[in-house]
Amino acid sequence: MERIYFQAGPTTLPKEVMIRAKSEWEDFQGTGLNIMEHSHRGETYENIHEQAKEKMRDLLNIPETHDVLFLQGGASLQFAMVPMNLIISGKTAKYVLTGSWSEKAFKEASKIGSSEAVISGKETKYRTLPKMNYESSDQDAYLHITSNNTIYGTQWPDLNEFSHPNLVADMSSDIMSKPFNVSKYALIYAGAQKNLGPAGVTAVIIRKDLLIENEDLPSILSYQVHAKNNSLYNTPPVYSIYLLNLVLQWIEEQGGVKEMQLRNEKKAQTIYHAIDNSGGFYNGYATPDSRSHMNVTFTLSDQELENQFIKEAEESSIFGLKGHRSVGGFRASIYNAVPQESCDRLAQFMQQFQEKYGN
Ligand SMILES: Cc1ncc(COP(=O)(O)O)c(C=O)c1O
Repeated sequence: MERIYFQAGPTTLPKEVMIRAKSEWEDFQGTGLNIMEHSHRGETYENIHEQAKEKMRDLLNIPETHDVLFLQGGASLQFAMVPMNLIISGKTAKYVLTGSWSEKAFKEASKIGSSEAVISGKETKYRTLPKMNYESSDQDAYLHITSNNTIYGTQWPDLNEFSHPNLVADMSSDIMSKPFNVSKYALIYAGAQKNLGPAGVTAVIIRKDLLIENEDLPSILSYQVHAKNNSLYNTPPVYSIYLLNLVLQWIEEQGGVKEMQLRNEKKAQTIYHAIDNSGGFYNGYATPDSRSHMNVTFTLSDQELENQFIKEAEESSIFGLKGHRSVGGFRASIYNAVPQESCDRLAQFMQQFQEKYGN
C-alpha cells in the first residue's frame, strides 16, 4: 500500500514537484549543472529568483506597496527580526498569544524592546481562539498574530477581520492555504517547510514604508538591507528557493490559492467528520469554532489505546500522526500538498480502529 504522511513540518512536497526536481537534478535546463551549483549572481539562478518573487505576488495578490523577501533562519529568526526592526523608541510591540509559537515570538520581542501580550487564549489551554477585541493605540509599534497554531490545531477563520495600522502575522503554517487581503498587513512571515517548499528559506512580505535604514542593526538583520539587495545581500538558499518556485508553480497549475482553500476545507471536513461522528471515541482538541484546516488535533477517550492507534496506523502505511509532545494525542497535518485521498484513507482507518476497539 502506498505510504501516506501527515507530518507537521517539514512535510511532503507535491509529487509533481519531486518528479520535476528529479528530472532536473544533474542538468538544469541544459546547463550541465544542478541549479544549486549555479552562482546566485548568474542569469540562470536570477531567473528562478525573480520568478519565485513574481509567483508569490501573483498568487497572493501582493500589492506594489509591499516587497517580497527570501531570508534564512526560519520563522524563529523572524521572532527576533520583527521587533529589532519594528520597535522604535517610545513604542510597544503588542502580541496576541494563541499557542506555543506566538509565546515564543513574544518572548523574543521581550528581550529586544518594550512588548506586551494584550490578548491570550492560554486560559483555554489554547483550545479556543480568544476574542479579538483589541483597540489599537498610537503607542503600538505593531500588533502580532499567529494565523494558524500548528501545535494546538487552531486557526483564525478570517484573515481580513483584523485591523491595526501595523499588523504583523506569522503565517508559517497556513500561507497559501486560502486567499486574504495582503494590504491589511504591515508584515507577514512564513518558514517554507509546510506550504511553500523545503526548510531553509523564509518568505517575508513587508510594507515598503517599514524599510528604514538603521545604522545600529547588523546588516544581516535589517529588512531594509535585504530589500535593497533584492534578497541577495548574502548567498541565498538557492535550492530551497528553486523548490519553492516549483511549489508555487504547482499551486498555480492546480488553480491557485482559492482552489487550495476549497481542497483544504474538504480535507479538513473529512477528518473532523470522522471525529465528530465517533460518539466520543475520538475528541477534537480545538473547539469547533477555532478548528484549523491545516492541523487537525484529536485525542482518544481511552488514552491507553494511543500507542496501539499509532502502531496500527503505521501498519496501514499511515505515518506522522503523533501529536506534539506538549499536547499529546494525535495531529494530522493536511497542508496543501496532502491530497484528499490521504484524508479519506485516514478517516477510513479511524473508523475501522473504532469498530475494533470501541464499545
Ligand atoms: C506557526 C509557526 N511559527 C514558527 C515556527 C518555527 O519555524 P522555524 O522552525 O522555521 O523557525 C513554526 C514551526 O513549526 C510554526 O509552525
